[in-house]
Amino acid sequence: MLNLIVHNHEEEWEKEYRELSSQNRKVLETAKAGEKEYADSQGWLDTEEWANETAVRHLEKLASEIRQNADAFVLIGVGGSNNAARGVIKALQQAGTPEIIYAGNTLSPHALNHMLKKLEGKSIYVNCIAKNFETLEPGASFRILRKYLKERYGNKASERIIATGTTGSSLEKLCVDNGYTFLEFPDNVGGRYTALSNVGLLPMAVAGIDIRMLVQGAKEMRKELYEKAAEDNIAYRYACMRNLCYKQGYRIEMLASFEPRFRYFYKWWIQLFAESEGKDNKGIFPVAGEYSEELHSVGQFLQDGFPIVFETFLDVKEHQDSLFVEPDGLTDYFDYLNGKDFWCINKKAYEATVMAHKEKMPCLTLEMDALDAYHFGQMFYFFQFACYLSCKMMGVNAFDQPGVEAYKKWMFEALGK
Ligand code: PA5
Repeated sequence: MLNLIVHNHEEEWEKEYRELSSQNRKVLETAKAGEKEYADSQGWLDTEEWANETAVRHLEKLASEIRQNADAFVLIGVGGSNNAARGVIKALQQAGTPEIIYAGNTLSPHALNHMLKKLEGKSIYVNCIAKNFETLEPGASFRILRKYLKERYGNKASERIIATGTTGSSLEKLCVDNGYTFLEFPDNVGGRYTALSNVGLLPMAVAGIDIRMLVQGAKEMRKELYEKAAEDNIAYRYACMRNLCYKQGYRIEMLASFEPRFRYFYKWWIQLFAESEGKDNKGIFPVAGEYSEELHSVGQFLQDGFPIVFETFLDVKEHQDSLFVEPDGLTDYFDYLNGKDFWCINKKAYEATVMAHKEKMPCLTLEMDALDAYHFGQMFYFFQFACYLSCKMMGVNAFDQPGVEAYKKWMFEALGK
């Protein structure tokens, strides 16, 4: 279960929230009804479309075959084609599963050589994920890795290549011509909304993540968001809070937590909101805060600097890990920690940060019962739906990304495409 907590209770703030919330009710109803205008981008709204039982069973079987034969699995993809999977894998990868290696997200020869070095002596499988297969980074990495696999495995290389692309794409043609395994990239879902499809789920399954539970979490979140009226609907409330902060002049949202396992999930969230909302000279700039470390750096600006940031914390309720501080007989003035569990120390640091920061800025917390596959599924659906609502309130199209084309024009011209 997810719960949205608002830490600010000033009368004026609550009054403005109530006004904004009642003005925007139609946004929730329209979104739930489905909009013709966005029909070609909303295949994610119903999890049954791309993450149904047949799809999950097929992915579980394929992943189990890969796990039996691979020491390492290379995920080639960038942006929406790798962020969701990497976010979950970095947090929850199971012991004894293939090492997941990332490619197709950089053009740095140093990084690419380093990636190739990691493959030495291992049994390798590759999954190239690209929606239209024109993106430079995955296209270039796939070339290098195909050559590498051919040199190592000869004609058997094709048995180790899976490509996830849209039906009719040049990537599908490569699969047909060369005998690679082809998986469908949903044509009616943009990259950053594809966590619950072949795109996100195959790499997660290879890493031993329980994708069935993840899909279940998303499905139950969808049910909740479709059933609950505006005042109790956490996605609608979060979207309203964001828009209220924006109206009040806050231009940056920091997603922060005291759990380092969220490090790569932040990247998924940053892409979702930046690419969906940042357009037409509007939008809240999304950033991430890795606490407690960054309380010792950006913490100063947050508490004392120009007031443009508001914060959304991620907090896990379940007490999952323990490590107790024992005295060692030396005088270091840390005896106030004797016998305390780092779990509790970390919690106190979180609570203290909220107490301090809420005096300066709006602070929200998305609380989850546990850090597991089910709750990642819940978060994917929650944030995607809330982002869509938030974009609608702001008056921007949540599903296009015209701004990312500008640099590509110059780059392709320079490279002679
Ligand atoms: O969300 C999006 O649509 C983008 O961020 C894409 O995922 C990203 O640009 C990668 O595109 P592609 O899968 O076509 O290589």
